[in-house]
Amino acid sequence: MRAQCLDLWRRGDVVAIPTETVYGLAADATNDRGVAHIYALKGRPTFNPLIIHVANLECAEKFAEFSKAAYHLASYFWPGPLTLVLKRKANCPISLLASAGLDTIALRVPAHPVTLELLKAYENPIAAPSANRSNTISPTSADDVRAAFGSDIPLIIDGGPCEVGLESTILDLSGDGPVLLRPGGTPIEALQAFFLMPIKRIEEGAIIKAPGMLKRHYAPSIPLRMNALTPESGEAFLDFGGQCPHHDLDLSPTGSLEEAAANLFRMMRTLDAPKFKGIAVAPIPLKELGLAINDRLSRAAAS
Ligand code: TXA
Ligand code: MG
Repeated sequence: MRAQCLDLWRRGDVVAIPTETVYGLAADATNDRGVAHIYALKGRPTFNPLIIHVANLECAEKFAEFSKAAYHLASYFWPGPLTLVLKRKANCPISLLASAGLDTIALRVPAHPVTLELLKAYENPIAAPSANRSNTISPTSADDVRAAFGSDIPLIIDGGPCEVGLESTILDLSGDGPVLLRPGGTPIEALQAFFLMPIKRIEEGAIIKAPGMLKRHYAPSIPLRMNALTPESGEAFLDFGGQCPHHDLDLSPTGSLEEAAANLFRMMRTLDAPKFKGIAVAPIPLKELGLAINDRLSRAAAS
């Protein structure tokens, strides 16, 4: 499996890999053909840049300029669900297609042991967006990837269910101050502790720096309604912390935001079924991983 994966990467092919956040569609980031292959499989607009995965901080430093803050954050949070957007180094060999022509790149070290081993064994960095077709729910199991792509991908590596269950937090450190481009698996509160100035959040309607922030992005095929207290007729009810006795599923009966994040996409998929006319979701606290959960839900709810 490992030799086959490395061999496919060398030939510019795409392999689905597990990470602690979601599964990724992975190709050699220095190989334009491999990168183009990813865009084609996803049906993703080519202006939407990809996250580059590396084995460790030392490796990442070869490709981007690390400020002191970037260095401290990476040392503390990697491997883990944090992506840093940094200025590309002048001699950076990463495909311009992967960073969509920008002079910055998004880097992270994923925490999944299988993928970390592969990254250590492979000579180049790996570009990997979430392994879903554009505008559909991100995959948190190998079965999800198989259902979306089947035999379109030569190898899907099964690393079990994703522990975190939603994508990495994206922090832009390429400008004057830190800017949160996407809330995700690393809570913003934990990042803020590293800065004296407040981390800015990009506002809805502002220039889209992370095109994955397009308002409608994570979409089930039926309408989704947030902050619901009870289901309306025909709706499925996705609860949190047992707020509604008539729920179909509960993201976390004990009210754990970590557990809710890990269950989110899987449960949205389960309830995205013909027998329901919509999905109503209970209120989720707007703090810690709840910020990212609400962000994903509001994109799914946007029409
Ligand atoms: O958890 C994750 O981050 C997963 C796993 C597979 O690692 N990957 C993931 O990738 O979510 P993707 O491609 O679905 O989302 C990448 C996001 C996009 O919103 C993209 O626009 C943004 O990262 N991005 C990539 N490079 C960027 C850059 N140079 N500047 C700003 N945003 C960037
Ligand atoms: Mg994605």
